[in-house]
Amino acid sequence: MTRITRRLGLALLSGISGVALSTSGVLADPMPPEKSLSALEYELLGRDDLWTYKSLDAYNEAPFLTELVEAGKLPPVGERLPAEPLVHLTDAMSDGVGEYGGVFRHVIGGRPEGWNWLAGQHQGWGGINMAVQECFTRVGPLWQVKAEDQSGPLPNLAKSWDWNDDRTELTMHLVEGIRWSDGDPFDTEDVAFWWDDNVQDDNVASRMSKNGMGEGTTMEVLDDSSFKFTFKEPQGPSRIQSLAYIQGCPGPAHILKPQHPKHNADATYDSYRTAQTADMVPPVVLGPFVPVVHRPDEIVIMRRNPYYWKVDEAGNQLPYMNEMHFKLTSWSDRTTQAVAGTGDFSNMENPGNYVEALKQSQAEDAPTKAQFGPRVLAWEIELNYSDTVGVEDEVDKELRGLFRDKDFRVALNHAIDRDAVGQSIARGPFSYPYPGGFSVGSPYYDVESTVYYPFDKAKAMEMLDALGITDTDGNGTRNLPGTGADIEIDLTYDNGEPTDKKQVDAVVSMLGDVGIRILPRAVDDLDALADSGNFNMIERRHHWLVPTRETCEYIPLSLGCPDWHPADADGNRDLFDFEVEMVDAVDLIQQTWDPAEAAAAASKIQKLWTENAYTIGLTQAPAALLINKRINNAHPGTPVFMFEWAEDGVVRERLWAASDDQLDELLEGQVPEYE
Ligand code: GLA
Repeated sequence: MTRITRRLGLALLSGISGVALSTSGVLADPMPPEKSLSALEYELLGRDDLWTYKSLDAYNEAPFLTELVEAGKLPPVGERLPAEPLVHLTDAMSDGVGEYGGVFRHVIGGRPEGWNWLAGQHQGWGGINMAVQECFTRVGPLWQVKAEDQSGPLPNLAKSWDWNDDRTELTMHLVEGIRWSDGDPFDTEDVAFWWDDNVQDDNVASRMSKNGMGEGTTMEVLDDSSFKFTFKEPQGPSRIQSLAYIQGCPGPAHILKPQHPKHNADATYDSYRTAQTADMVPPVVLGPFVPVVHRPDEIVIMRRNPYYWKVDEAGNQLPYMNEMHFKLTSWSDRTTQAVAGTGDFSNMENPGNYVEALKQSQAEDAPTKAQFGPRVLAWEIELNYSDTVGVEDEVDKELRGLFRDKDFRVALNHAIDRDAVGQSIARGPFSYPYPGGFSVGSPYYDVESTVYYPFDKAKAMEMLDALGITDTDGNGTRNLPGTGADIEIDLTYDNGEPTDKKQVDAVVSMLGDVGIRILPRAVDDLDALADSGNFNMIERRHHWLVPTRETCEYIPLSLGCPDWHPADADGNRDLFDFEVEMVDAVDLIQQTWDPAEAAAAASKIQKLWTENAYTIGLTQAPAALLINKRINNAHPGTPVFMFEWAEDGVVRERLWAASDDQLDELLEGQVPEYE
């Protein structure tokens, strides 16, 4: 293994901005120079160096499981594992093969909605979804893989796949003999249920959208362990990334199929969605940990899944830890507790805490280590482009018309002082202006393709005047040319995160300075509001790193997305030409086998997005990963967010604590029990 300093993102390497040409051929403003705060060094591996699938001579298990086997409560470990389990390789572990036992303590701000992720329910985020769900492929740990081996996702439930010659058919091969946490076999019945009755069923809000594998794609089961997608057009390796978290994660058909309206005359789509409420523990999962206790607003306690299908090279069934906690408090508390040592993990993503958290974690006896990565977090304002959804009166209608006018959006850009917005969330060197599109820390960010509309109040005023939005009644707020009303725009944001509130306050004042009145509206459930389309503007953290990850959140690939361009009940919406071009560019990324072509298509998206001010970017900042020092195998360099969140990137099934450092388990000796 060679030691390489990985600085993902060409822009980070140069740190120097390029000069972009706008469509009119006029020189657009360059992005200001960016200086990364990340100087981590770590080793990169080949994709096959991380894990493999093979049978080992003998297997070990957590000692308390052996007692349960001896008591006849569990089958022997060899019978619980697949014939060829996934084997995590020792060379890819920074501290090597681990010791069994102990507790890993998460703290999260989310609350589990329920365990039916197939129907789109989340489990509370912050790593709890990922502790229960396993997906066909995996992308989180790709950050550890060398550039020349970045040819699509890593295997997971699917151990391999192959293409036909013209690449219109993709056959996936599952690991044979994986079992759900209740011992039931996992096989293509689960896959067919995922695809036919969830992804392809318009009544189910599946995380993979209907066209998530490409428009018109079909899926056919070949046998118990293989299934085949057939595409309308040839596809490339990126297509398989859609089968990673959070889109390609099957659920237990033996539990959920009988609850689905297609298979049960008494069921409705509502009853199906809520068939596994958050208090119904333990749910049946494929992940390393199973929720066994849920005390609302307090804690979710998980115990190891005795059927987990991954081992280390010494044959030890994973995970190493016996228990995982999710304390249910707030996202800021996650950082506070990680710094204090009462939590084991935080994606530090609230810049207001950075200075203090850094100071504290530098101390010799600090319980936590902090590692800063590149700037991956970004915040933006999203404008609703529908001329019908959430339109309540003539004023809303006129606003939507304005939002659809590029000059209006560019004027908003010029009215916002992004440096000041950045300083409002954290003083110091953390923030950098965000023009929209890919975050600077993305391997796909291309500064040359980034069109930047810098703060220029006079220009903003001039552009608003030219649009006929002038202050006709002299009250300090401009008036809409059609209805004559004061221009007042609701701006919805998440109540729970001070970082958003600070930015909203800054925007209210900056837009107020050019005669636009912003009416801030804080809500508890921003996701639900965004889904409903019932807003004019939203402010939120929204960052894009990898074009094939959850693409529907950003680009109108299917009717239900993105949130800011909803279709009406009849499925109508009026896409901008540049939106259609962005969809085409994503299709190209999904189809190509040439990384340079994929990068060029991503640059095109960056250009279209920023030039058209598709969203109004605010600021972007690095994040730091905080991990308690007693935790081993938390690989140096794990980014908070890149291909996936750090909870996936850090590979939690292989984290361990030495016996002296292990914390007492609350539910020692227990495994999930099913009726
Ligand atoms: C939330 C948190 C992130 C991360 C993800 C994981 O969004 O804010 O830091 O933990 O959940 O899904």
